[in-house]
Amino acid sequence: MKFTIFLTSLCSLMVSGAMAQTGILDLTQLENYANQPKPPYILRDNTPQGPNPPANAITNLGATLGRVLFYDKRLSKNSTVSCSSCHQQSVAFSDNSTSSTGVAGTTGRHSMRLINSRFAAERRFFWDERAISLEDQTTRPIQDHAEMGFSGTEGDPIFSDLITRLSAIEEYRVLFASVYGDAAITEPRVQRALAQFVRSIQSFDSKYDIGRAQVANNNDPFPNFTQAENNGKTLFATPPNQGGAGCAGCHRPPEFDIDPNSLNNGIISKLGGGTDLTNTRSPSLRDLLNPLGQLNGPMMHDGSLTSLAAMINHYVAPPTNASLDQRLNRPPLNLNQTRRDELIAFLRTLTGSAVYTAPKWSSPFNASGQLTLIVLPASAARLQPNLGATSAVFTATAVPGLSYRVESSTNLAQWTFVTTVTANTTGLLEHPVTMGTAPTFFRFTYIPPAS
Ligand code: HEC
Ligand code: HEC
Repeated sequence: MKFTIFLTSLCSLMVSGAMAQTGILDLTQLENYANQPKPPYILRDNTPQGPNPPANAITNLGATLGRVLFYDKRLSKNSTVSCSSCHQQSVAFSDNSTSSTGVAGTTGRHSMRLINSRFAAERRFFWDERAISLEDQTTRPIQDHAEMGFSGTEGDPIFSDLITRLSAIEEYRVLFASVYGDAAITEPRVQRALAQFVRSIQSFDSKYDIGRAQVANNNDPFPNFTQAENNGKTLFATPPNQGGAGCAGCHRPPEFDIDPNSLNNGIISKLGGGTDLTNTRSPSLRDLLNPLGQLNGPMMHDGSLTSLAAMINHYVAPPTNASLDQRLNRPPLNLNQTRRDELIAFLRTLTGSAVYTAPKWSSPFNASGQLTLIVLPASAARLQPNLGATSAVFTATAVPGLSYRVESSTNLAQWTFVTTVTANTTGLLEHPVTMGTAPTFFRFTYIPPAS
């Protein structure tokens, strides 16, 4: 047991460094998506628990497949746009552009940050909440004419054409077989994997979290905050009729998720002209800014607010409209410059750092956009003379009729090709090994053909 743990940590060191550049996907050394540490004060979670919609807890394998899909341009009609084109890790999985560029034009709304989207009471997604779950949301951009172009309208291919395309890509059949037990590629499987990846994107290493962990309650002064930051925290949380700014009524600490009952906040212009009263959802207010203190793109569905000062100015006296949330239909906030600065100082404490660079949320492809090697999960077998056995069979779940490589190693660093084996009609991959004199490790690998 001790030996196994040693090997695992050794390997993840080698693999995580290699992954980003080399396109190696080692499914025996998965990143941790399923059991990431989360602060005890974070309680909201929109992961479906089943039966309807079906449960979709994050697994390391499922989120890894989601990561590949998220970064793959082949999910768009002309293979030029991936989810990550409009949701970039360096800007909290949003876009600096007001309107993002898809395969056939630009988006009608500003891209949304995808940080902590799991940790919310709200289960619906998009600014106007038209997706009933994150699972439902994930394939809609693919089916959007402007974004990824499998819309089935205006001469576009339809979604089933994407399923046909992915099913013809061997590496996807290899991955789906490893994740789901057989190689079938279906819309629900694509949705579940993408939703697991998006839900895994979390950020809890902000100055706010360091402070929040040291007190019993959000309203207590945080020992690591400046006076201005603590004052800003109080302003954020206090209702307007008690002298505060009333932000927490809708952007609720400590998740800073949106109150599911919020109506629109008075930002009603539409990109390209006209008005739009339907936008009632906001991403978490965490990571509005990057670790350097710069905005992760403009704010609001129309990207119309480009500074925190302008944003606060909007909330001082929101313009009214027929569907304005009544909490914002109130006398102007009494915020002098000092208080505005305090509120801004507080919002700056909500930014984390690891999420912007962690390899597990970065592209799994190499510089030419390819995977170069897939190591099948749970296939490593080690023979040790002193265990007594003289032979063993190691197995993996694979694509029926597809050939894989058997490789061996004595040090887990250099791997030598042993032979090729073909999975049987049920997808079982088997290789018998005989004990040698030196300890030997084995694994099954698949090398995607260069395209
Ligand atoms: C061409 C740009 C573009 C592409 C490509 C794109 N998105 Fe988006 N995404 C957006 C925009 C714009 C919005 C907001 C749209 C709206 O609300 O109408 C959005 C919203 C979302 C949301 C909702 C977040 C929330 O908090 O409600 C999620 C989740 C999301 N995208 C995930 C994805 C995934 C997964 C993919 C790939 C399958 C993807 N996006 C591809 C631009 C894009
Ligand atoms: C009545 C509910 C409500 C209140 C109160 C409220 N907001 Fe909002 N907020 C929203 C909604 C809804 C959106 C999404 C607006 C849109 O783009 O259409 C939003 C969006 C935002 C955004 C943009 C997020 C992004 O990703 O672009 C920021 C920043 C923000 N609010 C900060 C605040 C601050 C600071 C306060 C207090 C002064 C506040 N809000 C008060 C409902 C509210």
